[in-house]
Amino acid sequence: MRAQRLVCLCNQVTAQEILAILKAGARTTADVQEFTMAGTGCTRCVREIDALVFRYKSTQKKDPQLRIDFEEPKDKRS
Ligand code: FES
Repeated sequence: MRAQRLVCLCNQVTAQEILAILKAGARTTADVQEFTMAGTGCTRCVREIDALVFRYKSTQKKDPQLRIDFEEPKDKRS
């Protein structure tokens, strides 16, 4: 099992949770913030949320069926 990657430390929101909300229909960083509360604390993670939203939208334009990997890569040492 792969580790969940924490994007927002303030609100304990993972990349997988952000991906789930994007798959459910969120289209903007503001949508992600509203539904997950990610990026609503210190706002340090907002750029990363922007990047995830952009990456998701870019992937969906190319191939809506294409899976994107929001998970942390496996530790190469193990
Ligand atoms: S780390 Fe996301 S709001 Fe602070």
